[in-house]
Amino acid sequence: MHNISITNNWNTALYEDKHAFVWEYGEDLLKFLNPQPGESILDLGCGTGQLTEKIAQAGVKVMGVDHAPAMIEKARQNYPHIRFDVADARSFQVDKPFDAVFSNAVLHWVKQADSAIASIHQSLKPGGRFVAEFGGKGNVKAIATALISTLEAFNIPAQALNPWYFPSIGEYASLLEQQGFDVIHAMLFARPTPLAEGEVGMANWIQMFASSFLTGLSNDQQIQIIRAVEEYLKPTLYQQGTWVADYRRIRIVAIKL
Ligand code: BEZ
Repeated sequence: MHNISITNNWNTALYEDKHAFVWEYGEDLLKFLNPQPGESILDLGCGTGQLTEKIAQAGVKVMGVDHAPAMIEKARQNYPHIRFDVADARSFQVDKPFDAVFSNAVLHWVKQADSAIASIHQSLKPGGRFVAEFGGKGNVKAIATALISTLEAFNIPAQALNPWYFPSIGEYASLLEQQGFDVIHAMLFARPTPLAEGEVGMANWIQMFASSFLTGLSNDQQIQIIRAVEEYLKPTLYQQGTWVADYRRIRIVAIKL
């Protein structure tokens, strides 16, 4: 694996402690992967390795990659028997092509989708499968709208701070087809996601996953913005003491021609 990427300061303890839903929901996607003993599979964006380990348990030779060095360090500690490397989804290269590339809850961070698809394509054997799920069109729309309109009310041009790519089925399937994949399954569905920690769940989520919107703001300003976003969202996303994020997933299975 080559092309080591930029550093990212994910808080792995917070990720594992309060955001376990990221890989717990991902277990559903494993059914689509249907890993077979003896196969070789790449887990793209493996985080701290929980799903990589599940794939390994199927008797697969699995390798996990993530662009965040802190995640890879933790994944190696969690599962020392598995190979984990730091790599960038937009430019990684492999020494030997895989039977499948699996990716859960990652590709919405990769705005250069065409580059990621090219890397995935070249890392698969002909006939190999790409099985992915991530945020699709309309994902966290209420949260993003609340963040952007709150920041704009503070005269901060927020659109440029948006770190996410949430494609429609048509858009993403077309990119895959243009690069030599057959898309055999595509689905877009709402998956309202309860956040841990009751009342502070939304503030935690924003700090963990939407921090780029708060870039350059003082601590006090960040708190003020988060409070305003909570007020904005409370009538729709706060239900009986739990915040529920308005997730929408795109799920794709594509075969390399
Ligand atoms: C998601 O999994 O859909 C997601 C996670 C963090 C930020 C935005 C979207």
